[in-house]
Amino acid sequence: MQNIRVESQLIKEVQDQVKEWRRYFHRNPELSFKEENTSQFVFDQLMSFGELNVTRPTKTSVVASLVGKNPGKILGLRADMDALPIHEETNLEFASASPGVMHACGHDGHTAMLLGAAKVLSQMKDEIKGEIRFIFQHAEELPPGGAQELVEKGVVDDLDYIIGLHLMSPLPKGKIGIVYGPLTSNSDTFDLKIIGKGGHSSQPENSIDPVLISAQVINNLQQIVSRNLDPSEKLVISTTTLQAGTAKNVIPESVQIGGSVRSFCPKVREQAVSLIERIAKGVTEAHGGSYEFQYHYGYDSVVNDLELTKRVEESIVQEFGSECVVYGEGVMGGEDFSAYLKRVPGCFIPVGAGNEEKMIVYPHHHPRFDIDEEALQDGVRILVSLQKKILEY
Ligand code: NI
Repeated sequence: MQNIRVESQLIKEVQDQVKEWRRYFHRNPELSFKEENTSQFVFDQLMSFGELNVTRPTKTSVVASLVGKNPGKILGLRADMDALPIHEETNLEFASASPGVMHACGHDGHTAMLLGAAKVLSQMKDEIKGEIRFIFQHAEELPPGGAQELVEKGVVDDLDYIIGLHLMSPLPKGKIGIVYGPLTSNSDTFDLKIIGKGGHSSQPENSIDPVLISAQVINNLQQIVSRNLDPSEKLVISTTTLQAGTAKNVIPESVQIGGSVRSFCPKVREQAVSLIERIAKGVTEAHGGSYEFQYHYGYDSVVNDLELTKRVEESIVQEFGSECVVYGEGVMGGEDFSAYLKRVPGCFIPVGAGNEEKMIVYPHHHPRFDIDEEALQDGVRILVSLQKKILEY
């Protein structure tokens, strides 16, 4: 009992500092792979806690190890640190000081929460069994992503488990998401060039019109989900960019189509790739045109480990009460946490940070996105309390 009291006291003591850190990061956002100031700030703070072995595996990432008094397993806790190329419109007093760059996904909060947890756990070192590795990752927002680089550097080679949190504005503050299995989607893109034969708009008989063919291709792509896919599976195909022509009296030579494909199941992912190409081939050939197709595999789906998620759920229910838990299903977003999961069983946890009363209602990546800062303490509590259940003591 006494230890629990000490722990909650330590979390309370770090609360104001976590908020200050979050505001500092929010005011000073940096884009993916350019987190120089942020990572230096994180490094300096971690060094000041005194108990950590701190390293810089890449130019803008930081990893700190806390080795407990008693031997045991190794748990990784991960936060992402990068901001987005968005111009902030929140009017917050600590709004971005860099025009066109904004923490619009909550990564400022993730970094601050993990720093808070590192500080608290450093003060509890004698009780910890095993090792806790704090992973401050760069470049989550920009494929190929920072997670993959850290995996290649061997940062997670000897981990037994890995945990990540994500503050979520669509989830009310005080709620914590538990998702068994797939949580985010495979997030891919494609480029499709429809090639016809250019000419004068008044002489279609001497041309092959790639604009008309493209219209049919785009329409037909929507039949993949409605007609080819098993209705119990999930798939989204969106054509999102379209470039054609330069003059109103010219039939252009070609049209460029771009799009995004989201799926959960690897089989469905491959089905989408071959069906997009089959439609492009069939429709263009039917009208005498041709095509070029490139499919770009993005982040894989984050799939939570069932056994670890069970333990996470038990820990959260114990700490916050069962009324706080929301059992979610996967969402069609992308997240490079999946790169770690190819090596280590892990669990990714959505943490409620929305608040209608405070008008914190905007979606992620919106210029007015914000988080309820009260959620920061929830995140620190989750990270600090989880490790007991996972490292088993
Ligand atoms: Ni994010």
